[in-house]
Amino acid sequence: MAPSQTSTLPLDAESSAALARTGLEYALVDADGDGFPPFLTSVARGFLGEEPTPEQIESSRSALRARRLTGVFDRAGEQPDAPVATVDSWISELTVSPERTLPIWSISAVTVAPTHRRRGIATAMLTGELRTAAAAGYALAGLTVTEATIYGRWGFSPAAWASHVVVDTRRARWTGPVAPGRLDFVPRESLPERLTAVHERMRVRRPGAVPGWEGRWRGIAGLTPEAPDAKKVRAVAYRDPEGVERGILVYTIAEREEYTEHELQIRALFADGDEALAALWRFALEHDLVGRVTAELQPAVPPVQWMVSDRRAVTATLTDHHWLRVLDVPGALASRRYSGPLDLVFGVSDPLGFADGAWRVRVDDSGEAAVERSDAEPDVRMPVGSLASLLLGGVRATELSTAGLVHGDAAHLGAVDGAFAPAAAPLLDIWY
Ligand SMILES: CC(C)(COP(=O)(O)OP(=O)(O)OC[C@H]1O[C@@H](n2cnc3c(N)ncnc32)[C@H](O)[C@@H]1OP(=O)(O)O)[C@@H](O)C(=O)NCCC(=O)NCCS
Repeated sequence: MAPSQTSTLPLDAESSAALARTGLEYALVDADGDGFPPFLTSVARGFLGEEPTPEQIESSRSALRARRLTGVFDRAGEQPDAPVATVDSWISELTVSPERTLPIWSISAVTVAPTHRRRGIATAMLTGELRTAAAAGYALAGLTVTEATIYGRWGFSPAAWASHVVVDTRRARWTGPVAPGRLDFVPRESLPERLTAVHERMRVRRPGAVPGWEGRWRGIAGLTPEAPDAKKVRAVAYRDPEGVERGILVYTIAEREEYTEHELQIRALFADGDEALAALWRFALEHDLVGRVTAELQPAVPPVQWMVSDRRAVTATLTDHHWLRVLDVPGALASRRYSGPLDLVFGVSDPLGFADGAWRVRVDDSGEAAVERSDAEPDVRMPVGSLASLLLGGVRATELSTAGLVHGDAAHLGAVDGAFAPAAAPLLDIWY
């Protein structure tokens, strides 16, 4: 299915009926129609943002045109055309193992008006998204979250983590590789194209990653109307000795009272290769008048800590970042490549039904999986969320077992750990 076709899929009948029983209407919103400005206004309110200006509405309209926009309307209210709840979704592509991707149903803009909370609206919207995605044949749904307490109840669970990195540059003398290429400042207007080029090459190698999109890159570049510090955004590109652009660093510098203690805030550091990574981090850490460098959405163990004299100059705070929901067990598990053979029956409990049952998971010596329903007694048992967390290998079955989130004997859990070990630690380097 082409990504833009999701907006023509019918609304989920079960959610329509559930909302109608409470006097609410579930409806698709056309990005080019009159319903779009109130939709965007409701989303902005949900995320505690300012009311969008006409310029922002136009900019978002083009960014969201490829998405399926759904609203919940309370027609008896003061503003019947302004949705009391919103969600948007689109088809993205998840890297499941290096150079292997799987289409996923991505969800964002989940809001419920404070006047309408705790009435089951989010439940209707999220289960509606999942049923629509499953019916359209998608094996996974995904989202990034503002709070970790919300989405587990619908079977989502973290599958990729990211850390917020802070570097004290006075302690961090560069001891890393010296890159042979060159750095140049590049204009902000050129960034969407440049970020796309580098990120597209990187993301297919990193499990947990998805592609960015024009609006995301424009935001990072400070080219969207709402970007407050737009004019302070600076960017440098790294070119290798052959002249190929291999990395981009986008940053702002926040001024501090002490003139040599300013903070360089990385908005994106994308590197296609180790040399580009070293060159861009070194540039950031050695920037004059900077005492601190910060970067979000970095690997759990950031490589920069191995490139400086004092490792403790680098602190990394880890958080869950990419949450996945398994809708089709064979589709999800057979998509990736594994690190070792396996032949076990997984028992999955899923209150929403999509993944529920016993599944025989066989991985051959080449790392390819075949997964089918089974009547056999499961060797390992888990709730559906645990399956999503195991999928990319970011957490081990033995670790989840410690928390009672996977059950099985030690030999079986060890076999799962061996097979699911990832080729690279899963990471999602953007928000969506
Ligand atoms: C989070 C939010 C979408 C929930 O909407 P809602 O319609 O009130 O949710 P529901 O009535 O369907 O409640 C579903 C369940 O989630 C719980 N819940 C709702 N919001 C929650 C929160 N923020 N933290 C923890 N639990 C929450 C409810 O108590 C209910 O629990 P139950 O299943 O045990 O009964 C809404 O509070 C919101 O819009 N928040 C601001 C925007 C936001 O954070 N969006 C998420 C972006 S990732």
